[in-house]
Amino acid sequence: MEQPDINWSSLGFGYVPTDVNIRCTYKDGQWGPLRITKDTTISMHIAATCLHYGQEAFEGLKAFRGKDGKIRLFRMDENAKRLYRTCEGIMMAPLPIEKFCEAAILAVKENLRFVPPYESGASLYLRPLLIGMSPQVGVKPAAEYEFILFTTPVGPYFKGGFQTTPFVIMREYDRAAPLGTGTYKVGGNYAASLLANKKAHDMGYSNVFYLDAKEKKYIDECGAANFFGIKGNSYVTPKSTSILPSITNKSLMQLAKDMGMEVEQRHIPVEELAEMQEAGACGTAAVISPISRIDDYDTGKKYVFSPDGKPGEVCTRLYNRLRAIQYGEEPDNYGWTTIVE
Ligand code: PLP
Ligand code: COI
Repeated sequence: MEQPDINWSSLGFGYVPTDVNIRCTYKDGQWGPLRITKDTTISMHIAATCLHYGQEAFEGLKAFRGKDGKIRLFRMDENAKRLYRTCEGIMMAPLPIEKFCEAAILAVKENLRFVPPYESGASLYLRPLLIGMSPQVGVKPAAEYEFILFTTPVGPYFKGGFQTTPFVIMREYDRAAPLGTGTYKVGGNYAASLLANKKAHDMGYSNVFYLDAKEKKYIDECGAANFFGIKGNSYVTPKSTSILPSITNKSLMQLAKDMGMEVEQRHIPVEELAEMQEAGACGTAAVISPISRIDDYDTGKKYVFSPDGKPGEVCTRLYNRLRAIQYGEEPDNYGWTTIVE
């Protein structure tokens, strides 16, 4: 197999073309067979619902080349279930779980030479998406859908990888309404975040730190990642009707329990940040991005977690444990990984 000319260890989180992508069409009330294609474009009707009424959902998961040379997909069934739920939430034809998993495995197999080497610390990112394809002019769901899954090798989402970065609270922007689409992975939520994100970046922050949209009292999430804080022996993470249920967070909650910690999933008043010793943003792209400090743009208050700029001890242990499972260095006690044979 010819190796691609890629400097794996300097990869950021961007688009690098791979060999093929996978497609599947929903028509006449059913999903068809998976197709493999080299085509990176889509042809669609100018009145397709994804273009007008936001019928678009996506997912993100990773495949890792392990120390033992084996390639592992991390918790793909959870991504499949979340996509299913998202589709139901915005009235798109949900893709069967088995079909999603079959597509993910096929995409990795067909792009094997793009799964980064173990030593590089990079991985192959899988980006599944599902869109409404057929025309509607009235606000109604489409009758036809397209599922696409492409892959791209990636490095760290936030600059520097496992390093602390600052976040900023800005009450001027919301990402999702309290009973809106925040718990679904739909493109519209990300469009809603672009302006705030740009502003945060321009001020030197990694991302925006969102408070609940209704009362601006409680912590929601940090950009495209969930939040967790370490308070004494507790792993504390928000409960909210407007955040994405993160698969990474779910995994970290289990690993924290395994480390003998208490796990609290509840409303977290923003002032409670002052009582936390460590804080992190977690997600597939972010993995764990330890937070150095959170500045409150409106009040001027600063919550500092890492005066020396180093990741905290608990964040580091959680990060190492998660990575060890993903790269097959430690036993996968919960069956989270699928080996691509
Ligand atoms: N929150 C948002 C808004 C996200 O986009 C993501 C990324 O998928 C996450 C949280 C983290 O979720 P996961 O750990 O499932 O990738
Ligand atoms: C992910 O973590 O997979 C995400 O979706 C985050 C972002 C790239 C949208």
